[in-house]
Amino acid sequence: MGTELSTQGVAELREIAARYPHAQSALLPMLHLVQSLEGHVTPAGIEVCAQILDLSAAEVSAVATFYTMYKRRPVGDYHVGVCTNTLCAVMGGDTIFERLKEHLDVGNDETTDDGRITLEHIECNAACDYAPVVMVNWEFFDNQTPQSAAQLVDDLRDGATVRSPRGARVGTWREAERVLAGFPDNRANEGPAAGSASLAGLRIARERDWTAPAANGSDSPRAAPGPREAAEQSAYSGNDAIEIEKSDSEMRTGKGNDAS
Ligand code: FES
Repeated sequence: MGTELSTQGVAELREIAARYPHAQSALLPMLHLVQSLEGHVTPAGIEVCAQILDLSAAEVSAVATFYTMYKRRPVGDYHVGVCTNTLCAVMGGDTIFERLKEHLDVGNDETTDDGRITLEHIECNAACDYAPVVMVNWEFFDNQTPQSAAQLVDDLRDGATVRSPRGARVGTWREAERVLAGFPDNRANEGPAAGSASLAGLRIARERDWTAPAANGSDSPRAAPGPREAAEQSAYSGNDAIEIEKSDSEMRTGKGNDAS
């Protein structure tokens, strides 16, 4: 970690700024690139961003300290975020976080002595349907347990190739920050675009031949319902909650699930 950014790093920061009609709009991705280059948002990084964007260092610092994805202390090779927001917490997130603190011998927002893992409890990541969720360098690890989370960090520390259950191979924190800065690693297509829980509604709709109404407000192009569907529609309109509960129950029990 130097006291100055490299010539190439400064050039890439300028490249990001040039992508925006108003250069100051580039500050957020520029700070991600600083994190990629420096491991965290350093004073030198703040100064360079301020110079390029004609801002004061205080203004850049105000942004960097407002958003929790910007780190003011060095981050390890892998940032492990345990969601302890409401749903994940009650589904086991609090227990996972306590287990990892003990397992790694670190507190919140601290890094292991070998520099491999930084542990942080994080807020809802909009993946509540997979609670409890852990993220590694912003890749999702769904439906975790204290045991699976401990194995996950052990694998990361051992240098094993680790893949998110959704497919993507986990890179280093600095690699992930470079992608967030707007420099793709050409791995966006690794794994499925959405997991099975997120697609449950679509699957149920297809099973029941449900389609969306036409966008122009005219009648839906769907065919007339068959007897089974008509009966379901009747039940649905009579009591939405019962039908939703039924679908939820099917998902939980796996009844009617895809082979996956
Ligand atoms: S509460 Fe954890 S992802 Fe929403």
